[in-house]
Amino acid sequence: MATAPLIQLASGHSIPQLGLGTWPLDDAQAADVVTTALELGYRHIDTAENYGNEAGVGEGLRRSGMPREDVFITTKFNREWHSVNGVHTAWENAVRRLGVDYLDLFLIHWPNPDQDSYVQAWDGLTQLRAEGKVRSIGVSNFFPAHAGRLIEATGVAPDVNQLQISPYWVKDEARAFNAGHGTVTESYTPIGRGKELLGEPAVVAAAEAHGVTPAQGVLRWHTQQGLVAIPKSTHRERLAENLDVFGFDLTPEELGAFNALDGSGPEAADPESFGH
Ligand SMILES: NC(=O)c1ccc[n+]([C@@H]2O[C@H](COP(=O)([O-])OP(=O)(O)OC[C@H]3O[C@@H](n4cnc5c(N)ncnc54)[C@H](OP(=O)(O)O)[C@@H]3O)[C@@H](O)[C@H]2O)c1
Repeated sequence: MATAPLIQLASGHSIPQLGLGTWPLDDAQAADVVTTALELGYRHIDTAENYGNEAGVGEGLRRSGMPREDVFITTKFNREWHSVNGVHTAWENAVRRLGVDYLDLFLIHWPNPDQDSYVQAWDGLTQLRAEGKVRSIGVSNFFPAHAGRLIEATGVAPDVNQLQISPYWVKDEARAFNAGHGTVTESYTPIGRGKELLGEPAVVAAAEAHGVTPAQGVLRWHTQQGLVAIPKSTHRERLAENLDVFGFDLTPEELGAFNALDGSGPEAADPESFGH
């Protein structure tokens, strides 16, 4: 059975490098897909308050019969909880919906700079980690300027920053900033929602050269560079395919051809103005 390698986090815990995305599944779909994914060897599931499927993810975990500690669970909270007390309430709500008693990774979903309270949310997360309620803490959609403020205010860097990254959105600057602060970068929408990216000539050529699918080629681009990736699929064969990406290496030329796609894809949401 395929499994993903583990990546060490600054918290001392480790994260499976390939996880399952669950947006936009509802509870019933999430329960089915999580059960299948765990059967296939996935040990890392990504959900969020905003997806409305944490209960389904928890149901899938229970149905699988797997011990809680064998599965890495990430969830994220919304802007209304950006305060120290708010983050504690968000945690209580999340563990209740998931039916677990701790989280592996809890993320501020978006910085929401208009609200200007993500530093308070970060204070709340550092407390939750000290209380043992979450093992690792992090952010999502944080540019270096946002993450820099957290570090300056609290001296604590995120364990993980989850960003929209793919060959269309390489984000070199943010990745270098994260690495410089001991923050692991995690890629969301890693295969570009399964659309144009998988038909790009550079991607198709590399996939053919290695006898893999375009999705596997793109997921290898992530994992070979030390990124964590969380592709979503509802199909059993694609779930298996997406996890089976550790048996080949892209050449430097292929990595370069993927990187050359940077900036040429569909527009992405801007964390300066978008968030929930
Ligand atoms: N932090 C954030 O703000 C944020 C934002 C967006 C997403 N996320 C997280 O990141 C996860 C992944 O991102 P995403 O769902 O936007 O996009 P994605 O994983 O890049 O792409 C998912 C799409 O690709 C298709 N697909 C999956 N495997 C495939 C394969 N092997 N070949 C061809 N098509 C394939 C899927 O269709 P089928 O399901 O039909 O197979 C699905 O429509 C989300 O589920 C969510 O957990 C986080």
